[in-house]
Order: sequence, then C-alpha cells, then structure tokens
Amino acid sequence: MVPAAGLGLRLGAGVPKAFVWLGGSTLLRRAVDMLHAAGEVQLVVVVVAAEFVRAVTDELGSDALVVAGGVERTHSVRAGFCAALAAAPSAQYVLVHDAARALTPSRLVTDVVCALRSGAEAVVPVLPVPDTIKTVDANGLVTGTPDRSTLRAVQTPQGFRVEVLRRAHAQDAAATDDAALAERTGATVHTIMGDPLAFKITTALDLRLARMLLEQE
Ligand code: C5P
Repeated sequence: MVPAAGLGLRLGAGVPKAFVWLGGSTLLRRAVDMLHAAGEVQLVVVVVAAEFVRAVTDELGSDALVVAGGVERTHSVRAGFCAALAAAPSAQYVLVHDAARALTPSRLVTDVVCALRSGAEAVVPVLPVPDTIKTVDANGLVTGTPDRSTLRAVQTPQGFRVEVLRRAHAQDAAATDDAALAERTGATVHTIMGDPLAFKITTALDLRLARMLLEQE
C-alpha cells in the first residue's frame, strides 16, 4: 500500500509531492516500480487525493489499484487497506510504504517480508539517530532529553500480518505511522536495519539530495 494523498506543503513544489518528478518519473511511479521490482508483492494499492484518482489510474494501469485517501495519513492508509483486503482477501501480509521515500532500495522490501515470514507480526526498518533529541513544551522550552541510544528513526515499508494491521486500524485513532497504531493494540513491533537511501523527501533540500544521488548513479 502506498499512501500518497498528502499535499506535500513542506516541499513547496506547487503539486502534491507524489507527482513531483525525479530522474524521469514521479515519486509515486518510482515507489510502485520499486515494490514490483522486489518480486514479493502481489498487489499494489495507491492512495491519492480524490481528484487525482482517475488520472493516476490511467497512468499506472494494471500496475496498481488506485483509491481516494483522507485528510490525515491514517485515513488514507485505512482507505487503502479496505481496498487491498477487498481485492486480495487471502493476503497474509501487508506493507505500507510512503511514496515520499523515493530512493528506497527494493532490498528493504525483501528484508521486511523475510522478517514477517520468520514470524514477526509487525516490522519496521530503523536507523540510529545521529542527533541528540529534546522534548519541548508549547513554548519551546526543553522538558527532557531521551537517552539517544534507545532512539531510532523509523522508515517504510512497514510490514504487518494482515490481522495485526486490521486491529490497529479498528481503533478510532490517528498516528504518524502504522506501527504506532499497532503498538497501541499490544502488538510486538520488530525492527530491522533500515537504509539511508530510504530517507523521506520532505523539504526542497531532500529533493535536491535525491536528484544529486540519482545523477551520480
Ligand atoms: O505527512 P507525512 O510526511 O507523514 O506523509 C507521509 C506519507 O503519507 C506521504 O507519502 C503522504 O503523501 C501520505 N499521506 C496520505 N494522506 C494524507 C497525508 C499524507 O496518503 N492525508
């Protein structure tokens, strides 16, 4: 499942982030191609804002099922999940992968699926956090410094047994990733080593970095 219904305001590209061009294709197209290239995915469901469903359906053809998203990321994932369950009712596992992580190597998909097949009920790729992280209050005053050695930056694709994601999204709650919803239902979320190339393109600087990396290839 590829949630791509965000506006991408922080990128400031003038179009939703999923439709930004990078190395000859859009971020969305790259995500869909990468998922198929991993050779593990039976069905790709793409979630875009309602007004883009028709155009993206035409563009992706049989490569993906395209559905309309919601206001928050959680709503978009929920919509994509319903469509995925209807189209592939016997699926055992589901991966959720942000279109914004445009340079994610397909190796990460294989590693997540491998961890699920080995028995994990939920899996997220992570990297150590290089910066010291502070918590702050509404006035910007520091309220704490979590021990950095216990912190990880979380990437996608995140993988789940289907029933685990179903329970996670049965809650009427929102979160910035799907693992957080699964954690709240008591699921054990495993981590695997992420990849620096799976960084999320959020700002104009991230996009420049992605373009430079592709040019060097
Ligand atoms: O906002 P954030 O960076 O967490 O978004 C991560 C991913 O979720 C992006 O690929 C974005 O397009 C998607 N998203 C979505 N529906 C929303 C908001 C974000 O599919 N309402």
